[in-house]
Amino acid sequence: MSKKIASARIDTASSELLKELNNSLPFDRALYREDIEGSKAHAYMLRQQGIISEEDYHKISSGLDRVLEEIESGAFSLDGDDEDIHMAIERRLTEIVGDAGKRLHTARSRNDQVALDFRLYVLRHGEEISKLILDLIESLLDRAEKGSNLLLPGMTHLQHAQPINFGYHMMAYASMFRRDYERFVDSNERNSFSPLGCAALAGTPHPIDRRLTARMLGFKAPTLNCLDTVSDRDFALEILFNIATLMMHISRLSEELILWSTSEFGFVRLSDKHATGSSIMPQKKNPDIPELLRGKTGRTYGNLISLLTVMKGLPLAYNKDTQEDKEGVFDSVKTAELSLRVLKEMIDEMYVNGEAMERACNRGHLSATDLADYLVKSEGLPFRDAYHIVGSVVNYAEELGKDISELTPQELKSVDERIDEGACAVLDNRKSMDARDSEGGTSTKRTLEQIDTMKRWLQERKGAEVRR
Ligand code: ARG
Repeated sequence: MSKKIASARIDTASSELLKELNNSLPFDRALYREDIEGSKAHAYMLRQQGIISEEDYHKISSGLDRVLEEIESGAFSLDGDDEDIHMAIERRLTEIVGDAGKRLHTARSRNDQVALDFRLYVLRHGEEISKLILDLIESLLDRAEKGSNLLLPGMTHLQHAQPINFGYHMMAYASMFRRDYERFVDSNERNSFSPLGCAALAGTPHPIDRRLTARMLGFKAPTLNCLDTVSDRDFALEILFNIATLMMHISRLSEELILWSTSEFGFVRLSDKHATGSSIMPQKKNPDIPELLRGKTGRTYGNLISLLTVMKGLPLAYNKDTQEDKEGVFDSVKTAELSLRVLKEMIDEMYVNGEAMERACNRGHLSATDLADYLVKSEGLPFRDAYHIVGSVVNYAEELGKDISELTPQELKSVDERIDEGACAVLDNRKSMDARDSEGGTSTKRTLEQIDTMKRWLQERKGAEVRR
């Protein structure tokens, strides 16, 4: 048995088991910067409003600076018996400055304090992640540009479908990550309202100025309703959802890199930096890094589902259940930031084997649709009839052990009289790719157009203030 938890009414020392269950300091110490920043703004506002004296304010403010220094130097280790980060900092402050430290909590509750600290953390990491996404998009654009003359077998159902441009494939991922970026920015925009001053649940009788602290802390304004604010964790759910979706995209790209680096595909070779060996098979180079990115996606889904589940039955307002909001968010944030950094490095340093990709285009009759389209245009055939003729051509090519693009004009004509000389030209894979020139399509021209549009979009955002 040891010291009691924060309470004016409980005299018995808390049980060790209660502390183990209750204390959040082992993880919420990650919020120490936000906690000190929020407290400094709160103390300043208390002085401006005449709620605490000038002298107490200066003691509190310099005392908080010292606590920050002590935490960062390791002198104050944040592994003590304190219930949470808020109590730990207030205790240390009071040890340093005496009674003034006890005035800091006027017109404030840990309920609005934790809502503030956590929201600041989420907004900051939302901004950091959105910047890392821009860096990743930059790498994808670079790959897209360099690979805009490379042919790749485009697939549906993981079966060869139509020849596409490698740059176009990279731009598909750039487009996904652009939506991710926008989701993080939108969420920050929506959640840029300060919880500070909501107190326990109902506001406070002290003449506080919430607008002042909101401004000082970089928010657009204070939140509207205190009862909602102290129990709202939508901002945390949003970042968890945004990360889960981002990781789903990272996982899909990882999956393709894993496939592409097999000897069956051989389209890319990951840098040795991003591959590992086997302890028994000396010849192996394994794509552990994309596998880990794909694997880590799972925990970010779990974190989202956990918090949704924590929140679903809570009556208004604050309930201790919400202390369970943090570890999942910390974990998802760390996972997303690391994954984005690693993925960017991997994209920058992988070797793309254009020849292998182009060779793969000669399997699977990728230009079959082009022949059907050609017959529609040149012979005026209904598409469905053309489709059946081309089906017979594909069967014939299979019998000969050839790809449709390798058939001679005579061979083509032997299947159906209506297939003329011009057909051979459309069966060429590169021509097939360039023929898909409709807006958003895969032709080299359209791919370069997409790269250009995305580059301009990126330039407008790089260096732009994201958070609020
Ligand atoms: N550690 C708590 C949390 O993370 C802080 C708020 C505690 N408030 C309370 N009334 N017990 O949610």
